[in-house]
Amino acid sequence: MSSVSVRVAAKVNVQLAVGGLRPDGFHDLANVFLAVGLYDEVRVSPADKLRITVSGPDADQVPADRTNLAARAAELLAARYGIGSPDVHIHIAKDIPVAGGMAGGSADAAGALVACDALWGTGAGRTELLEICAGLGSDVPFSLVGGAALGRGRGERLTPLDVGGTFHWVFAVADGGLSTPAVYRECDRLRAESGAGATADRVPDPEPSPALLDALGEGDVVGLASALMAGGSSNDLQAAAVSLRPSLADTLAAGAKAGALASIVSGSGPTCAFLAQDARGAAALAEALLASGTCRTAVAAPSPAPGATLL
Ligand code: C5P
Repeated sequence: MSSVSVRVAAKVNVQLAVGGLRPDGFHDLANVFLAVGLYDEVRVSPADKLRITVSGPDADQVPADRTNLAARAAELLAARYGIGSPDVHIHIAKDIPVAGGMAGGSADAAGALVACDALWGTGAGRTELLEICAGLGSDVPFSLVGGAALGRGRGERLTPLDVGGTFHWVFAVADGGLSTPAVYRECDRLRAESGAGATADRVPDPEPSPALLDALGEGDVVGLASALMAGGSSNDLQAAAVSLRPSLADTLAAGAKAGALASIVSGSGPTCAFLAQDARGAAALAEALLASGTCRTAVAAPSPAPGATLL
């Protein structure tokens, strides 16, 4: 086989309920993942040594060495299946915002894993691939499976969810990324500062919202919008992301003013996600957000989207 290409989708967290800080430095989550139709493409081909190249917007901000999660995916798979040195050229064509809170790095890792698996014919099963994904990062298992799922634990223990229709989103991409660990730290800091405490013994266990799961399952856009905005936002990291990047408040307000049914920060940000009534509404909303000058770019994308797919 000369090369294998895999297409892999971005995600938005329609709910991100964050529990207290655990002794291992992670947080227990109730993480409702929804894959959205914004894609990176990962191509692997045999080479004399492991090599990574990246193209697309902000490609220069993606590490092109062994710290790239896609390279680590190839290394872990090779080690587990006795492939020897993972001598492949991994090319990542990016369309998912870099460090944007949309699991772009996780998507590339899942894509590289599926592509190398096909190239090398390891015969790995879904369970083995998911195990490797969980070792790579909390969001990587979801990038492999796509659709919609509830993630418990760090977010890696997945239960698939039904989605009863298509939801239309607009994503407002900011200039520059936010570091996920920094946003979690800021969430802990804000909790401690408020007197509520940040540790797992002080913060209630995170639970998925029944109203949100019902709305997803029924394809009810108005119900989903109201669940997204319940208590201000369904994303417990939103206040932390806005605290680190105050201009996100302007982006969220611009979307609301332009008629978004719901406006939230996507994951750890800084990308903001806006729910629209339908595809036409999303196109108009994207235009209005772009014109507002509160984001670098705004793109419309439907959900759900499939998991990592061999092309
Ligand atoms: O699992 P992943 O490598 O994506 O996590 C990156 C960082 O995000 C972790 O090192 C941790 O600081 C934070 N994190 C967390 N709780 C989670 C997931 C991530 O605190 N459930």
